[in-house]
Amino acid sequence: MQWAQRVNTVRVIGTGVMGRGIAQLAAAAGLTVELADARPEAVSAAVDQIGQMFDKLAGKGRMTGADAAAARNRLQPVDSPLAPTGCDLVIEAVREDLPTKRELFAELEKICPAHTVFATNTSSLSVTSIATALADPGRLAGLHFFNPVPLMPLVEVIPGARTAEWIPGALVDLVHRLGHQPVRATDTPGFLVNHAGRGLITEALQILGEGLAAPADVDRICRDVLGLRMGPFELMDLTALDVTHPATESIWSGYYGDPRLRPSPITRSRLEAGLLGRKVGEGFYPYTDGAKQEPPEPQAPQAETHPIWSDNAELLDALGAAGVPVERGDEPSEAAVILLAPYGHSAATAALSAGLPPARVCGVDPLSTEKRFTLTVHPATDPALARSAWAALAATGRAVTVVRDGAGMIAQRLLASIVNTSCFIAEQRLATPGDIDTAVRLALGYPRGPLKWGQHVGPRRVLAVLRALQSATGDPRYRPSRWLVERAGLGLDLTETGTTPQDLLS
Ligand SMILES: NC(=O)c1ccc[n+]([C@@H]2O[C@H](COP(=O)([O-])OP(=O)(O)OC[C@H]3O[C@@H](n4cnc5c(N)ncnc54)[C@H](O)[C@@H]3O)[C@@H](O)[C@H]2O)c1
Repeated sequence: MQWAQRVNTVRVIGTGVMGRGIAQLAAAAGLTVELADARPEAVSAAVDQIGQMFDKLAGKGRMTGADAAAARNRLQPVDSPLAPTGCDLVIEAVREDLPTKRELFAELEKICPAHTVFATNTSSLSVTSIATALADPGRLAGLHFFNPVPLMPLVEVIPGARTAEWIPGALVDLVHRLGHQPVRATDTPGFLVNHAGRGLITEALQILGEGLAAPADVDRICRDVLGLRMGPFELMDLTALDVTHPATESIWSGYYGDPRLRPSPITRSRLEAGLLGRKVGEGFYPYTDGAKQEPPEPQAPQAETHPIWSDNAELLDALGAAGVPVERGDEPSEAAVILLAPYGHSAATAALSAGLPPARVCGVDPLSTEKRFTLTVHPATDPALARSAWAALAATGRAVTVVRDGAGMIAQRLLASIVNTSCFIAEQRLATPGDIDTAVRLALGYPRGPLKWGQHVGPRRVLAVLRALQSATGDPRYRPSRWLVERAGLGLDLTETGTTPQDLLS
């Protein structure tokens, strides 16, 4: 029988938020769970709380009363993390501190049988560093669950540099047995999910830092245009800056200052000011009784009507259907407001290269959707004409967000950053393309995996956005990954590895 099927008893050490969730999951899957914590009262509280969860699930018909009672009986509180045990697996979920974890594993190695496998739920420490505390570092791997464990199906399985070869596969099987979805990640800063998540967060902060749009604008665009459940600023408020900012700093410094992962001075100062987010009632948004207070959305002003000319036929169709006068000739008349919808370049750059009069030009992000348009204005835009453009777009019944013009506008550059970050992960072989897409979709709730998403929008378009940002800013943060450049150039799919030298040997 395979190891994962033979596992009978798991000891969960650290019965805080994560340990409780892991214990609940394991007991529900039929494993005997020894619960231990440095604070004995935390163990009894955990046993009570998990028992109540099982009762609740039984009450809702999600498990039978008999199964709930059996699962509850499989919870075995123990007096000390170092109480004698014959367990097959230890899952450590104590506080995130390297010396604490190392000391614990060094002691555990003395009391556990030789067959016990060790797993750490660390979210940011090196699995390899933790394992050096063991006489046999081959026994330990990372098993990274997400909060709340019973509801977040993803688990990263992370071998350290010396982990025995059979262990990652065995842990993958065990995660399946627990009813969750494993992905294999490498012992690199942020592993897979937290690294991939920097794409959205760091770019949103970059946009804020450039003064292009306010947090609520960016969040609305993310929800309505990119289809995210939550925008990056709402997300940072929920996660809290005392978690997000240090995590970003640690991933960035772990990659020796790679500019694509660069943290923002905005979150540094907000963290120092205590503007942590929802849990303290003040973050990027204020909170009243825990409820986010979003600023009201500005409404389109009354404006003189001008005919609209655009380089985007779909946009003209939508405006025409809403009764807005549109021009369909090859060139705009002198009366027209010109709406340019470029991929990559700003509307101002597109106007100059097409020889169009900048004062009459506004941008519309071609990634706009049935729900929302993003309208951009540059410093030379005539404000009366921009108001007319705003009113025209609003006449379609869609919401309109007005932001400063810039390369990649808002949605395009956020998406390009999300896709490029995951392309770097694929390029460095930190995970397979399939695991990258699965992990990000399940853990971050994106509507598509980032590689599939980039493929959907078009690798050449994503590349055009990055190149435009690179040329507009000179910032090496926007250098495109080789994974993207090669696939865009060769016409290959972003989700495919393609031919490698190893393929020639098989
Ligand atoms: N909270 C999250 O969203 C999240 C997500 C993924 C991973 N993690 C990781 O999981 C681990 C636990 O996080 P948490 O949020 O559950 O923390 P927590 O503070 O809720 O719980 C930690 C528990 O560990 C106990 N503890 C501390 N030192 C101990 C020791 N030496 N021996 C035994 N018990 C000890 C504490 O008493 C506490 O009950 C951390 O490594 C964290 O990085 C957390």
